[in-house]
Order: sequence, then C-alpha cells, then structure tokens
Amino acid sequence: SITPVLLCGGAGERLWPLSRQSFPKQFAPLTGTRSLFQQAATRLAGTGPGHHYSAPLVITASDYRFIATQQLAEAGIDPGAVLIEPEARNTAPAVLAAAIHASAANPDAMLLIAPSDHAIGDRDAFAAAVGQGLAAAEAGRIVTFGVAPDRPETGYGYLELAGRPDATGGATDLRRFVEKPDAETAGGMIEAGNFLWNAGIFLASARSLIDAFHAHAPNLVRPVSQALARARPDLGFLRLDPAAWSDAEAISVDYAVMEKVAGLAVVPLTGGWSDLGGWDAVWREAGPDARGVALSDRALAIDCHDSLLRSEAEGTEIVGIGLRDVIAIAMPDAVLVADMSRAQDVRLAVEHLRGKG
Ligand code: GDD
Ligand code: MG
Repeated sequence: SITPVLLCGGAGERLWPLSRQSFPKQFAPLTGTRSLFQQAATRLAGTGPGHHYSAPLVITASDYRFIATQQLAEAGIDPGAVLIEPEARNTAPAVLAAAIHASAANPDAMLLIAPSDHAIGDRDAFAAAVGQGLAAAEAGRIVTFGVAPDRPETGYGYLELAGRPDATGGATDLRRFVEKPDAETAGGMIEAGNFLWNAGIFLASARSLIDAFHAHAPNLVRPVSQALARARPDLGFLRLDPAAWSDAEAISVDYAVMEKVAGLAVVPLTGGWSDLGGWDAVWREAGPDARGVALSDRALAIDCHDSLLRSEAEGTEIVGIGLRDVIAIAMPDAVLVADMSRAQDVRLAVEHLRGKG
C-alpha cells in the first residue's frame, strides 16, 4: 500500500485576503465546495490501478492542527498520524520527518508526498499516473510527476527529460531538475520542448528518501532525527521537539534534494493540474468566459476583460465596469484590487500589513 504524506503547513500568502496566516489557502474552498486539502486527502484514499492507500501521514504547523483534523473528519478520513512542526522550516525538513517517522514502522513503506494546494481535474488520470510510477519507486528510485507546460511560469520547477516520453505513460529518466527558473530561462525551456513542469508530487520508499537526504542534505538529518526522537505526544498529535527542529535549515525539498538526486524518474501527469499559488492561477482554473472574466457569487462585470471578481463577504456585492486584467477580491474585513500581472506580488501586501502589526 501507499502512505500519502499530506504537506499542509504553508501560509499561502499570495492568496491574501482569502488566505490568512490563521486560515491558509489549502483549507479554504478555493474551487468547489471542499477545501484543496480535503480534495487532496480524498484523492489519496481508497484504491487506484495496482495500488491502494493506507491512512495518511499529515504534517503541518501547530496553528493548523485542529483545522486539518476537523477537515479530515468531515471528509471521512482517519489520519494515521499528525506531525506538528513547532515552526515552519519549509518542505525539506517536513518531508524528511515524515520519511523517518514512516520508516520506523517499515523502512520500505511507499510514500506519496503530496502538496495540498493543487487542483487536479481528472482523478482517474492522476491514479493512473501513480500506478505507472510504482514499479520505478519499488525499484528504489524517486518518482516525480511532470505536467506539460503551457506558459513560461517562473513559480514552478522544471523537469528535463533524458529521452522521449514513454509512449505508454510510464517512467522516463530525468536529465535535469531546475527549480523556479527566472523568466528568460523558463522561456528557453518552453522553446526547447523537452521540459515538463514539476507537479511537486513525489513517490518513493521511505528508505530511498532518507538515503537521498543523507547524500544531498546531510545537515538536515541530525536535527530532524532528534526532533522526532524527542517528539511529544499531545492530544493525538505528535509534536516535534522545538529546540532540535529550530536547528533544521529552512529549505524546500526541491532545492535541498530533488535538484541534486541522480536517477529521478518522471511520470507524465495528464488530465489537468494546477498549483493554485496565486490569484492568476485561480482565475485560470475558474474557467473564465469568452471575454476572460471569472466571477464568484455576488459579483457583476460590465464590459470587463480578463479579470477575476470575487466576493467572499456575505451581503457584499462586487461590481466591475470597464476593467481589464484586474483581480478584485472582497472579504468582510479586507479588499484586494490588483493588476493581474502582479498576482505574485500579493505577498508584498501581507508583508506590509504584518509590518504595521
Ligand atoms: N508541513 C509543511 N511545512 N508544509 C509546508 C511548508 C512547511 O513548512 N511549507 C510549505 N508547505 C506545503 C504547502 O502548504 C504546499 O501544500 C506544499 O507544501 C508545497 O509548498 P509550496 O510553497 O506551495 O511550494 P511551491 O508551489 O512554491 O513549489 C513546489 O510545488 C510546485 C508545484 O506545485 C515545488 O515542488 C515546485 O518544483 C513545483 O513546481
Ligand atoms: Mg504550491
């Protein structure tokens, strides 16, 4: 069986003001009626071609532990364990902690590392891709999932394939992993044509992951191991030791390990995938009309183009007239109005507001 590792400790700053420090995007119903986290947990439950899932291992920040368990309960999912990070150290320490925890019970445990901020259109296509990756992962390789790019996005990692994609949808060797390139590099990779976006989802045994950390991020091994060895059970959660954890470098798993590992295997993921990282991605995912306009309930657009208008405030209407490339989001206590091209800069607003206390 495969154990899903649900990463859900991010703060989702670029989706302010819907996403808040106290209630980040992965727990909000950004698309549909269920949160992205619930969608991820549900997608990784039950069975797929040649595989079935066991109870997920959840790793999150202390502030989100009750949101996470409540949302899992709503979705009818019992977590196998919930690890609590005393402070956010990005994804590398979180992935290593999950792998060490799982390997204590079974070093060969097969793990599916899953972000919880993705919209995945076709569940069957996703399940098929996981099935395709299993053989390579069981042979000890780390499998990543690659999505055909349609624009030179700088917010993603890129996977350069060593050869032609496998015609049957199976694993292909990776030549190079490039995390978050600048715009020029991204443009070059799109033109070259043999690159896929890294979906940020990894399939590997606990043992292979731990070996990769030993080889490429050895500085993380001691603090993360100690944080687990000294972890305290707390109301059904497992709280990592704060002193040891704070010694772990804050770095993403992509930079710490995946860019460096030799012999990664890539399985293509088709059927629709999006990281809802910013409002531009939410706009794209919302399926804008012929004029490029996407509206929520309580929103009206007159002569607008390529814009997202969204009211999350009960009883508050939002109206746009003659807009082009505008993001406008109304919450009960905050309104965001931004140019679509500046979607990634919304985190600046969060910094400013935090500065003012
Ligand atoms: N537990 C925990 N702790 N989870 C975290 C932390 C943390 O400190 N920081 C982030 N996460 C969670 C987020 O909530 C999200 O679900 C997931 O880990 C990935 O983090 P992101 O911050 O969203 O990563 P990214 O989108 O910038 O980049 C990654 O994903 C892209 C595709 O979605 C990389 O893997 C890229 O290469 C990839 O293209
Ligand atoms: Mg993301």
